[in-house]
Amino acid sequence: MIIDEIKRTAVAAARQAGALIKEKSGKSTTQTLKSNAFDLVTEVDKECEQLIRAYVQKSFPDHSILGEEAVEPGSYASEQAVKQMQYAEYLWVIDPIDGTTNFIHGFPASVVSIGIAHQGVLIAGVIYDPYRDELFTAGREQGACLNGQRIQVSGEAALQQSILATGLPTATQARSTNMVGLASLAHHIRAVRSVGSAALHMAYVAAGRLSGFWEIDLNAWDLSAGSLLVQEAGGRVTDTKGEDYHLGVRHIVATNGRIHSELLHVLNEWNATGYEETEQ
Ligand code: IPD
Ligand code: CA
Ligand code: CA
Repeated sequence: MIIDEIKRTAVAAARQAGALIKEKSGKSTTQTLKSNAFDLVTEVDKECEQLIRAYVQKSFPDHSILGEEAVEPGSYASEQAVKQMQYAEYLWVIDPIDGTTNFIHGFPASVVSIGIAHQGVLIAGVIYDPYRDELFTAGREQGACLNGQRIQVSGEAALQQSILATGLPTATQARSTNMVGLASLAHHIRAVRSVGSAALHMAYVAAGRLSGFWEIDLNAWDLSAGSLLVQEAGGRVTDTKGEDYHLGVRHIVATNGRIHSELLHVLNEWNATGYEETEQ
């Protein structure tokens, strides 16, 4: 079955890139700024992407690849790149290191994220955390696994019992809006965590370690694998307005399903969806 072959290749590539991340973590590598002072890239990001591309090209030479490091920095370029490629026959969406800032500082929370779509529909997703040797995999209608064992989302039924995660997006306006969201949620939730990797947050929602995750202005490579994982683990993934996830979604809400509407309601009530800027 093609999904299984794709998953095997994605896992092999993610494991090799992950080994490189672990080996080089916190050791000074050349770092450059991308769109602004919060948007960083290192030689290792590029090396990991090359390595993953080589795996794909060897096993599936006719598949298309959307890799973060081959796209110009900034939200606009990312949106355009996704628009151009999202309905390709087979598309590999690669974040070679999700958590580059952590990688630079030696904070052990960076993952490799690879999502594979067929004509715009995600069919496989792999997220690998090399520090804990945790491999999260999902195949459409095959469920989600952590190191080969089935996982499922948590059971909290209300925000009050929930542990959520979010992040600091790179664009400055998005940062402010996301913090409005956090301030508005602070009194409704049990706790919030922010470990600096959107993909890892999504994998943890799938594994039931977090009740939900939201963040605005993210890219297809941050979200594609994690979205399939959460869905296949029984959760729900939409944008901040409640529209079903697709590769073009940038403002994400991924939860165990049970707290989803409540979370959407708070973000919308407090104008913290990320769509406010475009609506003005
Ligand atoms: C970043 C991480 C971070 C999120 C940022 C992303 P990168 O990805 O996912 O958690 O808050 O918005 O850009 O740059 O490390 O691949
Ligand atoms: Ca990322
Ligand atoms: Ca990255």
